Amino acid sequence: MELLADPNLLKQHCHAWRAQGLSIALVPTMGFLHAGHLSLFDHARTLADRLVVSIFVNPTQFGPNEDLDRYPRDLPRDLELAAAHGADLVFAPEAQAMYHPDHAAWVDVPELGRGLCGASRPGHFRGVCTVVAKLFGLARPDVAVFGEKDWQQLAIIRRMTRDLELGVTVVGRPIFREPDGLAMSSRNVYLTPGERAEAPAIRQGLVLVQGAVRSGELDVGRLGLMFRAHLAEKLSGARVDYAEFVHPEALSPVVRVDAPTLFAVAVFVGRVRLIDNILLEV
Ligand code: PAF
Repeated sequence: MELLADPNLLKQHCHAWRAQGLSIALVPTMGFLHAGHLSLFDHARTLADRLVVSIFVNPTQFGPNEDLDRYPRDLPRDLELAAAHGADLVFAPEAQAMYHPDHAAWVDVPELGRGLCGASRPGHFRGVCTVVAKLFGLARPDVAVFGEKDWQQLAIIRRMTRDLELGVTVVGRPIFREPDGLAMSSRNVYLTPGERAEAPAIRQGLVLVQGAVRSGELDVGRLGLMFRAHLAEKLSGARVDYAEFVHPEALSPVVRVDAPTLFAVAVFVGRVRLIDNILLEV
């Protein structure tokens, strides 16, 4: 497995593969890999001849008071895991290599990025879109694979890719969960043992809402209250950042679950903000 930090070398490497007629899959990550990432690599490996994994804690998607400096990092371990899960190349640049000092171009999908996580993380999706567009430009992959835990991110990247004709097939993969249901996230390491023990209540709340929909409760006001009451009971010290029912692609709010609807939540457990979602089918 090749390790590259220079964007130009990534470009050259991928160009050479394409010249040999080889297809390329890209899985962009911020590292500190967990089983969720590895499942993305395993799947991506089946979609193309070569697998490129990027590991880059992208500064432009973090707000001034967010966890950029303390975001967990472990490159040696990540490299071992990526190699074991079929990566042909890991691209792990420094921020200065990815952003010129006078970097001035941004990619944004404001209509989809305003609500949900975008409301409490202004500028976040602009940073995500910009770095993903740059990675697409460098590697020019045939296919790129993302997890559905960040559903809003996935919807935005799909729209960006479609609207800008980037020529990449964007594939979403189901949320990978711990055995107790907690969605896997690099940020789970921040949880105290007590918080970690209670955090699966988030997933249980989503399943509770799904059960209520299946039993005929379609009113999002009542469903939302059900979720909040469940968390108040089961997850001491949790603060709901948002718990919203939206159209799965347009991400616009809905008032009744009478068509497939995404129920997306962000919950502060102590200082850690966790996100999760469930697609409600009627
Ligand atoms: O989901 C992530 O880890 C990041 O937002 C991504 C897509 C790698 C862009 O930095």
